[in-house]
Amino acid sequence: MSLVPMRSLLDHAAENDYGIAAFNVNNMEQIQSIMEAAETTNSPVIIQASRGARKYTNDAYLRHLMLAAAELCPHIPVAMHLDHGNSLPTCLSAIEQGFTSVMMDGSLMEDGKSAAAYEYNVEVTKKVAQAAHVQGVSVEGEIGCLGGIEDGHGAGLTGDEAKKHLTDPEQAERFVAATGVDALAVAIGTSHGAYKFTRKPTSEVLAMDIIEEIHKRLPNTHLVMHGSSSVPVELVDIIRMYGGFMKETYGVPVEEIRRGIKHGVRKINVDTDNRLAITGAIRKVFACNPTEFDPRSYLGPAREAMKQVCVARMIAFGQAGMAGKIKQVTCQQMIAFYKRNGQRSRRRRR
Ligand code: G3H
Ligand code: 13P
Ligand code: ZN
Repeated sequence: MSLVPMRSLLDHAAENDYGIAAFNVNNMEQIQSIMEAAETTNSPVIIQASRGARKYTNDAYLRHLMLAAAELCPHIPVAMHLDHGNSLPTCLSAIEQGFTSVMMDGSLMEDGKSAAAYEYNVEVTKKVAQAAHVQGVSVEGEIGCLGGIEDGHGAGLTGDEAKKHLTDPEQAERFVAATGVDALAVAIGTSHGAYKFTRKPTSEVLAMDIIEEIHKRLPNTHLVMHGSSSVPVELVDIIRMYGGFMKETYGVPVEEIRRGIKHGVRKINVDTDNRLAITGAIRKVFACNPTEFDPRSYLGPAREAMKQVCVARMIAFGQAGMAGKIKQVTCQQMIAFYKRNGQRSRRRRR
């Protein structure tokens, strides 16, 4: 089966009230972890690659690994998504390389760091949506800025500054109408990386009410939560136990994500939890077997540890059991859908 557009997965999730984890990948083992977890739980899959991941892997390796995943698991619908695209050319090159979905993160300037003006965001995201939709490719936009600088993304905001850049629901409504995105990432106080919160987040730091308000205004737009790793203490403790150092830290509790899913969140981005699982597993092998040097002896357990995280999130977000219920479509088939949508909105404007 070919890779499917992300929109088709999110539509099914919305019709059936569940969310889908979007896991970041940088290598073969991570793709295998996700696909094994999807096989175990019968889940639809969103695999995403950042610009850094594309540079690290090379698009050709990535494309062929993704095609292998789809070929080996024909009954699992798999979408291949660009995470945090920074410009029209980046998004176009991803589409050329077989991505079935792209994120245009116009909340930041092309440098991927400085906060961008609303007008710039609308302009660049609209251009990407037009170019992607004529090829049946799905588009995610973002409005508001995430905090967090650990992974080189984000506007480098402190917690207090990030609060000022939370998504404005009224602006979100205008943004979706102006750009035509399929999915919208919203800023509700989360940040990328392992160091999100210094204590368990309360409603003061994690603004779930913004999601509820946006969903009321945009009931048909798929909402996306970035920076949604839960940073489980068990995973952090394994790293600490085997020689790593990590400060005390808290992530986004799974029960808060589930609350978001009740209010229109359909895509949940998770990268850090898998990084933690992989690192802990590798550290354990090295600490327990200092003579080990066959990469399979540590990459194998790392793959298994990441699989366990993916299985847990797939069950918690409600995507488990859904793979077989989704009618698989191609990007080619989505072209007609976007054409009809475009005609309808042009008629409404007249
Ligand atoms: O958006 C952030 C993801 O965790 C990807 O991070 O840019 O280090 O690949 P990366
Ligand atoms: P985490 O760092 O919380 O896993 O977030 C990943 C993400 O949002 C990728 O876009
Ligand atoms: Zn992100």
